[in-house]
Amino acid sequence: MNLGAAYSDELYARGLPRRLRRALELGWRYYVWDLPRYAWYRRGVGLKALDLQAITNPIVEFFDRKDKDGEPHVGFDDALSCLARAGVRLTLPPSRIGALARCWERTAPAPGDVIECGSYRGATGLLLALLGKLRGRPQKVLLLDTFRGSPGGCAFDSLRTTREYVLPEDHVGALRRQAEALGVNDRIEVHQGTFQESFERLATRDARFALAHIDANLYQSTLEACRFVIPRVAAGGAVVFDDYHGPCDLGARLAIDQFLAPAGQRPRRLAGSSAVLWK
Ligand SMILES: C[S@@+](CC[C@H](N)C(=O)[O-])C[C@H]1O[C@@H](n2cnc3c(N)ncnc32)[C@H](O)[C@@H]1O
Repeated sequence: MNLGAAYSDELYARGLPRRLRRALELGWRYYVWDLPRYAWYRRGVGLKALDLQAITNPIVEFFDRKDKDGEPHVGFDDALSCLARAGVRLTLPPSRIGALARCWERTAPAPGDVIECGSYRGATGLLLALLGKLRGRPQKVLLLDTFRGSPGGCAFDSLRTTREYVLPEDHVGALRRQAEALGVNDRIEVHQGTFQESFERLATRDARFALAHIDANLYQSTLEACRFVIPRVAAGGAVVFDDYHGPCDLGARLAIDQFLAPAGQRPRRLAGSSAVLWK
């Protein structure tokens, strides 16, 4: 089975020519326009203006390095084959999916479910649910999204628009059918709506998480996700931020730094644009 069939490159540039074109299109704007404004915004939310690590974001994205711990092991390839056979396509690149799955692997001793804030088509959530099934973990995967399109950003999210991540009206139905085909319908919970609406519902139960995947690209959405999710991640659990090093996602980075700064924390570089915080 060709495991590459489990991936779609609709959300990222695959191959040298496409990566070069993206670097040329975005690079100058990042350094001339977005980074200076980001420094200004950092001061506005009480952070140090200088963020040296952010200077390397376009370079990190261009090289899209795998995390140095390598690929996850047992069950990962089987899960990819199942997704490919069911016609489910992952929209994150293999480097970030591999790193996320490895983090999931390492959270085995931590109690609690998996939560994904920003699921888009839901393929990454289905993969995590499938891994849970293959490894016999008693764990649900909560998928949070409008499943209609991005709610739109604020001034900190200059490159993001409401025209992104638009999906057909019946996408949640299609997602449930995919979950059925993969035998993980009882392992996923679809929470359609804004994060804030879903968090209000989830706050009424004793939600605990072993792994959180925060992938909203936007300042306000990421801040809301950090506020709700991070205090509910169990000891030994992890929070993976998909877009911490994303050159188009300085708003999300600002929110993460703003939330973690009072505790003196910063996530550790993972793979490509992603970063991880261990609890
Ligand atoms: C990059 S996509 C997520 C990709 C997904 N994690 C994957 O692995 O394919 C970002 C998603 O976040 C969602 N999103 C952003 N802010 C949101 C909010 N406040 N409420 C609900 N969904 C939100 C968007 O609708 C979009 O689908």
